[in-house]
Amino acid sequence: MDSHFLMRRIHSLTGVVPVGLFLVYHLYLQLYLHSGAETYNTAVNSFYDSPLAIWTLVIVVYIPLFFHAFLGVRLIFESTVQPSYTYFSHLLYWLQRISGIGVLLFILAHVWNTQFGPWISGTWGTHFEHLSSGFSDPESGIITKTVYLLGVLGAVFHFANGFNTFCMTWGIALTPKSQIRVRIFSILLFLILSASALYALSAIW
Ligand code: HEM
Repeated sequence: MDSHFLMRRIHSLTGVVPVGLFLVYHLYLQLYLHSGAETYNTAVNSFYDSPLAIWTLVIVVYIPLFFHAFLGVRLIFESTVQPSYTYFSHLLYWLQRISGIGVLLFILAHVWNTQFGPWISGTWGTHFEHLSSGFSDPESGIITKTVYLLGVLGAVFHFANGFNTFCMTWGIALTPKSQIRVRIFSILLFLILSASALYALSAIW
């Protein structure tokens, strides 16, 4: 099997399992923002009670995400105009790449802001207070809100559109009829995850 083919498959698979599934779980957890500081912090912190939590995160999320991002950046450099694509497919092809770069920058800022920053300053654990004070800061709040809005919607778009191309990559949607079904599913996925993420953010807006 040629190594480029294998790399494409690893890139494709890691985007859905486990990174995409983690994104869905992570967005679901954010709905607890509406339950107030204590419930939200308990929901987030309870995951870390397990001695295996950090290892689970590293093995299930960070390593696959690193692979996906690393191979994704390589694919971005190899991007070309696709003569066989329609205007709309071309637009999605480039938006997938632009959102990939945006998601990469957002994840770096987000992990720094919610994990390493609080850990260094000794305030790790008070996630709700940290997020809501960042959002309501009179000077930088508007920037934080804009970054979160673009970052979260960019990640949801990237995953939903990526699910569509994943089904092509793996031969799940080969006939025109199945491709329409998968496209409808990915649009619904985008709408449902966006609504859920916006509703979660509205709790601290
Ligand atoms: C929340 C994090 C992410 C998720 C859930 C995710 C998910 C996905 C999925 C499901 C695909 C479709 C795979 C396929 O077409 O077979 C994909 C494609 C892609 N991803 Fe990601 N991804 C994420 C982050 C990133 C990052 C950080 C980058 C790099 C900058 C990136 C770059 C790409 C590129 C370039 C493609 C297009 C590949 C192609 O057209 O063949 N992704 N992503």
